[in-house]
Amino acid sequence: MKICKTISELNIWRDSLSDQNIGFVPTMGSLHQGHLSLVSHSKNICKKTIVSIFVNELQFSPDEDFDQYPRSLDEDIKFLNQLKVDAVFLPTAEEIYSNKFSVVVNELNLSQKLEGNSRPGFFSGVTTIVSKLFNIVRPSHAFFGEKDIQQLIIIKKLVQDLNYNIKVIGCETIREKSGLAFSSRNQYLSNTEKEEAAILYQTLQLGLSLLNKNQDYLSIKKSMEDNISSNPKIKFDYFSIAALNTLNELKSNIKDHKVGIVISGSIFLNNIRLIDNILIK
Ligand code: PAF
Repeated sequence: MKICKTISELNIWRDSLSDQNIGFVPTMGSLHQGHLSLVSHSKNICKKTIVSIFVNELQFSPDEDFDQYPRSLDEDIKFLNQLKVDAVFLPTAEEIYSNKFSVVVNELNLSQKLEGNSRPGFFSGVTTIVSKLFNIVRPSHAFFGEKDIQQLIIIKKLVQDLNYNIKVIGCETIREKSGLAFSSRNQYLSNTEKEEAAILYQTLQLGLSLLNKNQDYLSIKKSMEDNISSNPKIKFDYFSIAALNTLNELKSNIKDHKVGIVISGSIFLNNIRLIDNILIK
């Protein structure tokens, strides 16, 4: 596995490839089963697979967990070696954001909703780093988890609007037995908290079953909020039932939609923020 720490090392590796069928899995490290699934999808579809590990400060607000974000580079490299990934890109912050860095990439519509409403500036950081990595890596395919469905939708829009010749592939959310979606931030949770955190997915499933029973938007949201409130340690940030293409809430028109829906939510468990979603495709 080729390890590239600089853009010029990456360029040398990239320019040496005759086949242009290259799968790219951008990550912030602290790799888990969800990342394994992204890498496996890439290896199934593409001739070469490259993974980047870069904890992107630009997508964290000053009051968020950039400093504490789990980092496990040695283990990550071992893991990627075992998976027989072709290359890993490990740039430093200086390599990516020089002192005079002053251009960002913003999506103006989808990025304002849901996660964007709760975490202003988050998607600007994501679209900027992903654009930069796309330009540096020059992949033919890029793989993102459906766990971060809004990120996936925005990156598809980025690729479309900025004419990247890259196929963006969304991969199903991988879950623990309890239903808890794999996430690097799960490392903040004790085993008991992980069991408790499974209530997020259970609540989204409750939303789905009520939707299937044709309940209206407000009563479904109220039932989801009540379900979460049964554990006083947990506070919800938001629950949403939205159209998958626009991310607009399906308020009065919920009955017109049978497919193309995303039920999503975000909770705080002891100040640890978790997100999840269920897709009705
Ligand atoms: O999903 C992530 O891990 C990050 O948002 C990404 C896409 C690697 C950009 O930093």
